[in-house]
Amino acid sequence: MDNKRYGHFDDQHREYVITDPKTPWPWINYLGNEDFFSLISNTAGGYSFYKDAKFRRITRYRYNNVPMDNGGRYFYINDNGTVWNPGWKPCKTPLDFYECRHGMSYTRITGRKNGVEASVLFFVPLKTWAEVQKLTLTNQSKEVKKLKLFSFEEWCLWNAATDMENFQRNFSTGEVEIEGSTIYHKTEYRERRNHYAYYHVNTEIQGYDTDRETFVGLYNEFANPDAVMEGKPRNSHAHGWSPIASHYIEVELQPGESRDLIFLLGYVENEQDKKFAAPQVINKDKAHATIEKLNTTEKVDKAFAELCQYWDALLNIYKVHTGNDKLDRMVNIWNQYQCMVTFNFSRSASFFESGVGRGMGFRDSNQDLVGFVHQIPPRARQRIIDIASTQFPDGGCYHQYQPLTKRGNNDIGGGFNDDPCWLIFGTVAYIKETGDFSILDEMVPFDNQPGSEVTLFEHLKVSMDHVIKNLGPHMLPLIGRADWNDCLNLNCFSWDPNESFQTTENKSEGSKAESLMIAGLFVVTAKEYVELCKKLSENSKNSEYSEEAKRMQVAIDAMIAAVKKDGWDGEWYLRAYDFFGNKIGSHECEEAKIFIESQGWCTMAQIGAEDGMVAKALDSCKKYLECEHGMVLNNPAFTKYIYEYGEISSYPEGYKENAGIFCHNNPWVIIGECIAGRGNDAWSHYAKILPSYVEEKYQTLHKVEPYVNCQMVAGKDAAKPGEGKNSWLTGTAAWMWLTVSQYILGVKPQYDGLQIDPCLPTTAKEYTIQRKFRDAEYTITVKNPDGKESGVKQMIVDGKPIDGNIIPYSAGKHAVEVTM
Ligand code: BGC
Repeated sequence: MDNKRYGHFDDQHREYVITDPKTPWPWINYLGNEDFFSLISNTAGGYSFYKDAKFRRITRYRYNNVPMDNGGRYFYINDNGTVWNPGWKPCKTPLDFYECRHGMSYTRITGRKNGVEASVLFFVPLKTWAEVQKLTLTNQSKEVKKLKLFSFEEWCLWNAATDMENFQRNFSTGEVEIEGSTIYHKTEYRERRNHYAYYHVNTEIQGYDTDRETFVGLYNEFANPDAVMEGKPRNSHAHGWSPIASHYIEVELQPGESRDLIFLLGYVENEQDKKFAAPQVINKDKAHATIEKLNTTEKVDKAFAELCQYWDALLNIYKVHTGNDKLDRMVNIWNQYQCMVTFNFSRSASFFESGVGRGMGFRDSNQDLVGFVHQIPPRARQRIIDIASTQFPDGGCYHQYQPLTKRGNNDIGGGFNDDPCWLIFGTVAYIKETGDFSILDEMVPFDNQPGSEVTLFEHLKVSMDHVIKNLGPHMLPLIGRADWNDCLNLNCFSWDPNESFQTTENKSEGSKAESLMIAGLFVVTAKEYVELCKKLSENSKNSEYSEEAKRMQVAIDAMIAAVKKDGWDGEWYLRAYDFFGNKIGSHECEEAKIFIESQGWCTMAQIGAEDGMVAKALDSCKKYLECEHGMVLNNPAFTKYIYEYGEISSYPEGYKENAGIFCHNNPWVIIGECIAGRGNDAWSHYAKILPSYVEEKYQTLHKVEPYVNCQMVAGKDAAKPGEGKNSWLTGTAAWMWLTVSQYILGVKPQYDGLQIDPCLPTTAKEYTIQRKFRDAEYTITVKNPDGKESGVKQMIVDGKPIDGNIIPYSAGKHAVEVTM
């Protein structure tokens, strides 16, 4: 590994600073917190969309193209024949200085060339359907500079999927309008669309272009558009083909002079009867109103300050000071930031997810909200209701739904038998954080059908029932289409390469395929459900709840007994039984003798702890799954396709679900370690996949963004172990957060208060946490003078010792001292 570095953390500003534009992979950031979103790379590549990356794509982006990261918001500066961009791309003219600062929902890219500095601040103001691009041009030279500036955005024809395929239609539909310094994109507005987009600049322009071919030239590239190279806009008006938006502005700067230009990329929806101002002319009122709000430097600076305050408030809810910068910056900044992004985007749009294929996952969203619920509980609440509304009456679930319509996605359908349990997982986390039991009384439909509404509590009940009504021959949960591991397809049997494993007919009739991962997940979530029922019975004095708690306890006991009887392999938990009832993940198997998922969930569930099973399983993870970069999913990897197992064996050794380090599930084992009180082991697993701890490795080996977790790092059996892929949108974010905030640092929301139960490496001596919780604010100091791994010896709340380790909830400020 060489020592090349592309950037560093700036904790004070909560930024990652990239100093070389040629990062080993585009290092991106996300703009926007609700409704209007953008992806932006360190060279200003990326795109914007409204709510749904598939159905409301505003600007065009080319995935997997040559060169990499093609398409974005580009500013071209023609300085007396030298043409360059502040973000280096697309011209790639060598710069005298380059810097990209990715911050909390904003990115600032600065370039300098021949005495001119161009610095662009990109962000989406709160509650605004527009991306601001504040460009500051400064003449740092001793001469007068006469610059020819061209902006550039390329419109997507709204549906990102058909935009890439239906050219026989697309090349004829494009329409724009130009009014002053604003270019409007109104393709399909004449018919069923009630939305348009616009690109504005707050100054007079000296020209424009809206037709791509005219601007770029048919045989040119983004790197050398005709109009820019000649320094002459064409004032083109797009009719079909590929509409774009480019402003042309002549800027004269005296030595030392600086000038701001505010560009605005916006989106508007109009009511049906207010669509047009005149025949063929769109109603621009809402665009004008947004422009008016953001047309000066002062207004934009104020909007930016509001965004920064918004993040200050969010990140003030849970703050740790350990004195270890690497840990503190992940806990206080980047892990929480990534949780917000995964909550917003699920798995839809990143530089690895095209925004076309996948909506919001049922299980994914429930996990994501657990990482986010402390930040903005009302949004988590709404998400729970949206998710539950896509459930079927028997407790089964649509695997995904579209964020725009909030309807279940028929292409993928349902049948993933772990899905129902996650609804308990998400809902309980919400109630424990907020104390808001009223969510359980919300009337929520099945499959969005009006008239089918029952309480949310009823949804939880059918979720649990779905598991216990679908048990196999060993009384373990039937796996259905798949469990958490989408690629363990035990009822697919596909020899047809044109079939997708995820959507092909599920031949589960007569199947004996059972999942130990669901068994563990069920025990963990059903215990939560029992605790909830007991709490409800206590609150309401309604004996139905205590009966329900008893009923489910019987199911839990039966599941534990089934795992101990038929789910234990001697040194670890089995992974599954296949269609025919053969073991998967056993020492008897030829390959993939051990899997991580069942070790994680069955140890979290503490199944057989009294018989030493938990400790043995955790030791087996260390022995067989752990490697230099984390724990692999299975070991050894499959070396051939196995018809009975499906997609998991389709991947080459060491990648993705076939023995990759699937970071999402490492925390399951780490939490298992914490529950077992093994702090040193928990910490060493955790630090291996903690981005700031392995930042150097990211620069050249992992290659993806060093400030967030990626879904997968190639495992020990891979051709290139250590390569990272699928950054940003991964359940790893929420699970890393849960691991560190609740299990390692040990601050756990409970119904009646905050429980303090740290699990630490013996080297950890002291730390302080600021935690806002409902209407209270706690300052918690944990001291570990004897280097213990777990166990709280004494807790003092506001000067008084308390029994147990739960701080009873009461509003106001409290000081808590904990001794291990
Ligand atoms: C999916 C998850 C799934 C995981 C493992 C991810 O890409 O979003 O739902 O659990 O892969 O297959």
